[in-house]
Amino acid sequence: MILIDGKKAAAELRAELKEEVAELKSKHNKVPGLTVILIGDLTPSQIYVRNKEKSANEVGLKSEVIKYPDSVEEKTVLEKIQELNSDETVSGILVQLPLPKHIDKQKVIEAIDPSKDVDGFHPMNVGNLSSGYESSIPCTPLGCYLLIKKIEPNLSGKKAVVVGRSNLNGKPMTQLLLKENCTVTITHSKTKDLKAECLEADIIVAAVGIPELVRGDWVKRDAIVIDVGINKTDNGIVGDVHFDEVSKNAKALTPVPGGVGPMTIACLLKNTIDCFKRSQI
Ligand code: GUN
Repeated sequence: MILIDGKKAAAELRAELKEEVAELKSKHNKVPGLTVILIGDLTPSQIYVRNKEKSANEVGLKSEVIKYPDSVEEKTVLEKIQELNSDETVSGILVQLPLPKHIDKQKVIEAIDPSKDVDGFHPMNVGNLSSGYESSIPCTPLGCYLLIKKIEPNLSGKKAVVVGRSNLNGKPMTQLLLKENCTVTITHSKTKDLKAECLEADIIVAAVGIPELVRGDWVKRDAIVIDVGINKTDNGIVGDVHFDEVSKNAKALTPVPGGVGPMTIACLLKNTIDCFKRSQI
């Protein structure tokens, strides 16, 4: 079994991006900039944002974090986004989710200029991705896609099963696999026989947030299995895939942690650089 090393793949991607930033700097005399808006004091969000800032600095991006208390008014956030939209030194804007209840998530996402939407959550980018046009691609599915391509460069005709239909992961993952000519099945909580669907798959991407849902006897011998789950349990952090069981069956599997997670942040840096490059044309 191939243990897919997301940490290593992310470090390789960051090294490539660092070189690219240096080239862009010498060509344009400026570097791409990423601005993250962090609202409230949720610990996981703070940790994510700190990691994003650290990685951005490491590859040479200009990075800024704007922090607001939980009580901030929606209007203040929307005005800040407008300001960042017209700031030429800002290539990418990310508003860390989740947001406090009094702030309308969709309003915030739609306020971001689609050309600076490094999350790929704006309806314009969602539509462009599903139409096969150039767009920002949500970072986690993009990271999963790059890991799958490392194992299997030609995905044409493969049967892929995506477990979970979220806007963040399942739906964009489906679009990326479709673009690669996979036959894709999206499954979810109302799917009749999830095990039977998974048993058909050459590629399984599990992104439902149910600890160790995908079992060893759900997986074909030569399947590639990507685990997007990060679930807190009494036994520590586990994924959506039963690692010990599936590792005995699958051809390749991502661990949790150390699989998809590190790739997500590296892809955010990639998206920021791509937004910058498109803005220079
Ligand atoms: N919170 C958890 N994951 C994400 C993400 O990919 N983007 C944003 N903006 N917030 C998140």
